[in-house]
Amino acid sequence: MRPRDWIPWRPGRPGRFELGTRVIAHRGAAAYAPENTLAGLCVAYLLRARWVEFDVKLSRDGIPVLFHDEKLERTTSGRGELRDHDLAQLLTLDAGSWLHEAYSGEGVPTMEAAVRLALTLGLETNIEIKPSPGREAETAEAVIELLDRIWPKERPAPLISSFYPKVLEVVRDRAPVLPRAFLSFTVPANWAEIMVELDCVALHLKETSLDEDTLAAFREQQVPVVAFTVNDPERARWLVERGVRAIVTDRPDRIAEAVGELQYRRSNPTNLPWIFTWCGPKMRVS
Ligand code: G3P
Ligand code: MG
Repeated sequence: MRPRDWIPWRPGRPGRFELGTRVIAHRGAAAYAPENTLAGLCVAYLLRARWVEFDVKLSRDGIPVLFHDEKLERTTSGRGELRDHDLAQLLTLDAGSWLHEAYSGEGVPTMEAAVRLALTLGLETNIEIKPSPGREAETAEAVIELLDRIWPKERPAPLISSFYPKVLEVVRDRAPVLPRAFLSFTVPANWAEIMVELDCVALHLKETSLDEDTLAAFREQQVPVVAFTVNDPERARWLVERGVRAIVTDRPDRIAEAVGELQYRRSNPTNLPWIFTWCGPKMRVS
C-alpha cells in the first residue's frame, strides 16, 4: 500500500488530505443500484465517480462483507440478523431484486471482492467500518488484515471512516498508514478531542447537523468537513459554498453537476439498471 500524503487535522490547522473531488458516491451509487453491491460499484464507475463509500460488517464466521443494516430483510431475500449468518449463507442471498428486477441475483459481496473490483475500476474507496454491536475491534482487525493481504503496494491507501472511536483507535494503532475520518449524526461536544486523539483527517457529519453557524465555526477551525447523505443539488451547493469539502450522495451524477464537477456522466435513472445488465458483468472480468 502506498502511503497517501496526509496530515491529521489539528485545532486551527487543516492538516492535509486531498480527495481530488467534492463527491463521494454513497454505498456504491445507492439511488441507481442496490446499495453495497458490486453492481453499485459498477454503476458508480459508469457515472464516472472517482470515490465510492461502502459499509463493512462481519459475517458470523468473521469475513468482512458489504452491508449496512443489522437485519437482512430490507435489502435481501434473507431474514434475521446478518451477524447470525455465515458467509456461505450470505452468498446465497439476492441483494438486488428489491431495488429493480435488472439487479436480480446480485449478491452480498465480500469486502475482498468489492475492493478488488474497485481497484480494477480505478475507484478510490472510503471504507466505512460499521461493526455489529460488540464486534468493533474484531471488525477493524479483519478489515486491516484483508487490506494488508490484497491492497497493491503501488495504490494509495483507502480512507477509513467509522462512527465508532474504538474502530478508529484499532486502525490508528494497527495500521497508522490508513487515513481516518470520524463519522457522526450530530456534532458531538468532544469532536475536536476525538479527531486529535485518533489523528483524523476529516469529520464526516450528517448534513442535517450543519447550519450556517456550525459551518462558520468549522471554517474558523479549518476542519475538513464531509456531509452525508445529500441528494438535493441545491443543498449540496449551499454546503459546498460554506466550506464543506465533499458530499456523500446516492446521486453522484446530479450532485457533481450541482457543485461544478462535470466529469460525471448524467444518468437516466430509468435506463441505468438495464445498462448495468450489459456492462456490469463485463466490468467484473479483470
Ligand atoms: O459515510 C457516510 C454514510 O455512509 C454514513 O451513514 O448510515 O449511510 O452508513 P450510513
Ligand atoms: Mg456508510
